[in-house]
Amino acid sequence: MYVKCINYGALNVAINCIDVAGQIAYLLNNNNNLRRTHNSSTILKSNDLYLVELWGSTVIGCVALSNIANVDKIIHLSVLSTVQGRGIGYKLLRTAIDTSFKETIYMQVRNDNTKSLNLAYMNGFKVVSCIEKLNYSIFNLYLFNQGVKWNLQM
Ligand SMILES: CC(C)(COP(=O)(O)OP(=O)(O)OC[C@H]1O[C@@H](n2cnc3c(N)ncnc32)[C@H](O)[C@@H]1OP(=O)(O)O)[C@@H](O)C(=O)NCCC(=O)NCCS
Repeated sequence: MYVKCINYGALNVAINCIDVAGQIAYLLNNNNNLRRTHNSSTILKSNDLYLVELWGSTVIGCVALSNIANVDKIIHLSVLSTVQGRGIGYKLLRTAIDTSFKETIYMQVRNDNTKSLNLAYMNGFKVVSCIEKLNYSIFNLYLFNQGVKWNLQM
């Protein structure tokens, strides 16, 4: 696990990685409907880069960039239920995109997760394919041509 805090309000807080990993696991277990149950060690052991939004020392949102072959996969986008709808999810996703140096970024979202799909579409992701499950589908969403953004910045 690599961790980067994305909000300035937390500059004075010393980040305790074990505590932050535990809080990320709590968020994911309560919000994200994942098949795997997480704890601080499953998060700490990963090679993923976690971006976190902190309120004091409380993790109120997270997202991770997972490097798979030549693409970055965006995983574990999650915002504490009490502070959803305030633009934190958008900021996390946007920051993950801006942080990636891969030409292609990828994410998977369930077809019934309207909020996450809207955030993905707003940030330029397109549905490329779909995995059918028994009662739902999973959209494979891609954001291509990230190289353009680096050329513009030069
Ligand atoms: C999906 C999730 C991360 C969104 O987090 P959030 O902080 O509530 O999201 P935001 O506040 O940024 O976005 C909420 C709304 O504000 C809008 N919005 C936010 N920032 C905006 C901006 N800068 N400009 C315009 N609209 C904006 C979004 O379009 C969205 O609109 P909608 O409600 O019509 O869909 C959150 O609901 C969550 O944790 N869900 C459970 C876990 C989950 O499903 N994770 C994703 C797995 S792929």
